[in-house]
Amino acid sequence: MAETSTTEPVTRPVGEAFWNPQAHMPTARAKRLVITGGEGAWLTSSTGQRLLDATASLWHANVGHGRERIARAAYDQMRKLETYHTFSRFANEPALRLADRLVALGPIPEAKVILTSGGSDSVDVVCKLARRHWQLEGRGTKKIILSRHGAYHGLHAFGTSITGLEYNRDGYGTESLVPETARIATNDIDDVRAQVERIGAENVAAVIAEPVIGTGGVIGPADGYLDGLAALAREYDILLIADEVITGFGRTGEMFGSQRYGINPDMVTMAKGITSGYAPLGGVLVAPRVADRFFAGPAGGDAPMFRHGLTYSGHATACVVAEANLDILEEEGLVERAAHLETVLEKAVEPLRTHDLVAEVRAGDAFMAGIQLRADVTGDAVAETCTDAGVLIRTIHNNTLQICPPFVTTEDEIALIAETITRALDTYPA
Ligand SMILES: Cc1ncc(COP(=O)(O)O)c(C=O)c1O
Repeated sequence: MAETSTTEPVTRPVGEAFWNPQAHMPTARAKRLVITGGEGAWLTSSTGQRLLDATASLWHANVGHGRERIARAAYDQMRKLETYHTFSRFANEPALRLADRLVALGPIPEAKVILTSGGSDSVDVVCKLARRHWQLEGRGTKKIILSRHGAYHGLHAFGTSITGLEYNRDGYGTESLVPETARIATNDIDDVRAQVERIGAENVAAVIAEPVIGTGGVIGPADGYLDGLAALAREYDILLIADEVITGFGRTGEMFGSQRYGINPDMVTMAKGITSGYAPLGGVLVAPRVADRFFAGPAGGDAPMFRHGLTYSGHATACVVAEANLDILEEEGLVERAAHLETVLEKAVEPLRTHDLVAEVRAGDAFMAGIQLRADVTGDAVAETCTDAGVLIRTIHNNTLQICPPFVTTEDEIALIAETITRALDTYPA
């Protein structure tokens, strides 16, 4: 007779296997904060704590949490057809509808739309497509992708290679995972011109810029910088790419940052606010200048192909989620609300400028703010004090506290964010 084992099954705490993105794992495990629910601008943690979401999760919860209408749209679509892929001649209805709607909202007339699974995917698309464009133009030396110091463009291979945050590029054995990239000055257009001259415009495919730098510390464009970049791109025949993964879908008080800052990019990357986080989705708007040749001529003709795509390009459920999210943005006037809340936030954080522990306050370029603390202050400790007090804050580049609330946040809640930060600084070290 076989012996029955008396060994108890090994039980391990839930999440032992989980490896967080962008995390120092011993710290992440020791201080894990598990979010279990959300309603509007508020969250609930696994310990039952209520938290005001001052960062809109990772800059994406534009319409706020817990929207039943979006959940129902996803449910209805899943019951009908979860998705069907869009490679080659296949398509699904939500992807077709969403593409048209994005063009109507976006800053590029007559654009074409490539749908992706998120921001890093979208960055890969624009970088590949920029190089493909010049190759097809017969100007194959134009390969270099220019990006700004302090920029963040996600962490796929292209995003890693073009980031202006050096620590994200380090450690992969080469200076740049994808060769032929270079950094340009963040806010000094004369310096950018000098760099383009030095590199040679005949070697440059594109320049990519966030209208307002997010992860790099919430840095708005200097007066004339984005205009200057657009003019320079035209002058030197370089494609201009606006990375609107954060600034898209209302964060700057216009649907896109390119509209607020009056630039006409050749391509625009999108993600995050396209669904407010209710489903992973990204996209790229492509101007006719780049797209037209791929659509020209008859079926079976000799138009070139852009050999790129993902299983979930144009995922049907993600697309209806985006449509419901856009309906909410429009019907509730949330983009206009974001424009108003930008000024409320700017005023609320103004007094922090003179706080002893604050190096710089950056606000007024979108509905977001960066509170850069002095280098000798442990920003993570300040963020933790705020979070313990009920306002969820995190640090980003350069010891900066990120403020980027959902558009449904009230003026009182914005005041609460500023008060909580002030109190955390007043009592520092806790
Ligand atoms: C400007 C910008 N581009 C690209 C990305 C990457 O997006 P994702 O994390 O969805 O891949 C981000 C993410 O924060 C971003 O802020």
